[in-house]
Amino acid sequence: MSEETHANDYDPKLLAMLELIWGEGFLSPGGPAAVDEIVHDLDLDGKLAIDIGSGLGGVDMHLARQHGARVIGLEIEAPLVDLAKAAAAAAGLADRIEFRHCMPGPLALADRSVDVVFSKDSLIHEADKAGAFAEYFRVLKPGGWLAMSDWMRSEQPYSEDMEYWFEMEGLTYHMWQLDAYGTALKETGFVEISLADTSSDYRALCDREYALMAGELKAEMTGVLGKESCEHFLENWRAMTVVLHKGELRTGRIRARKPKPENRRAGSESKRP
Ligand SMILES: C[S@@+](CC[C@H](N)C(=O)[O-])C[C@H]1O[C@@H](n2cnc3c(N)ncnc32)[C@H](O)[C@@H]1O
Repeated sequence: MSEETHANDYDPKLLAMLELIWGEGFLSPGGPAAVDEIVHDLDLDGKLAIDIGSGLGGVDMHLARQHGARVIGLEIEAPLVDLAKAAAAAAGLADRIEFRHCMPGPLALADRSVDVVFSKDSLIHEADKAGAFAEYFRVLKPGGWLAMSDWMRSEQPYSEDMEYWFEMEGLTYHMWQLDAYGTALKETGFVEISLADTSSDYRALCDREYALMAGELKAEMTGVLGKESCEHFLENWRAMTVVLHKGELRTGRIRARKPKPENRRAGSESKRP
């Protein structure tokens, strides 16, 4: 898709709503703690991480501040890139975080130039996930990690409840099952692949989000969004709790590593008398 034809799905009302429920700079659930879970055990200090689908940049500021990473955030929606740049500059992090507008397809990054490919809840929008994984593999240094989370589907065909939730969301989704990520990553050449189904955690969190939206957050939401949009998002979240509880909408965390090359020199040295 060309830059000219890419529609900006994340309109200002949706952004305002998501930041109200998920926190400033975050367009996905769980805030900084969810980012920590994705990068758990990875040493990012002084390392270069790219973030696929950086949104408003809250994730990237956390990766830089708390984990010491240098970050390049890649984002398909140009207005979000501008907002994220302004937020990083205001936070005094512009020297450690760069936000770049990108399109799906080849990444404008050199082979073996990146320590970690990070992504939080963005690959759901990507139609060509296998192509994306090939690009992540290409840009990762040997031994580098892919660390990501995403929304996923179950093995069932979409039900009417699922179609209704899609309609409420109004975003373009290409959902996979968790296992399909594992298969595609393996076929790409990744190793040390781990897949964690986190659906029950998000189910519980989403119930709390919906209760907040219908309760103490409702007046603020109405003030920020207006009555009609507030009612829309409430219904959107109710529909999401339905498909989460039916197990049709799922969430998962994924880790995979680009293999280190075999150390041929060390191998030949070991044969020396
Ligand atoms: C659910 S939001 C998550 C944003 C951010 N990761 C966060 O957690 O706050 C998904 C983001 O991915 C972006 N996106 C979708 N497809 C993309 C692609 N192929 N490359 C880069 N960004 C993409 C969307 O525009 C959106 O900002």
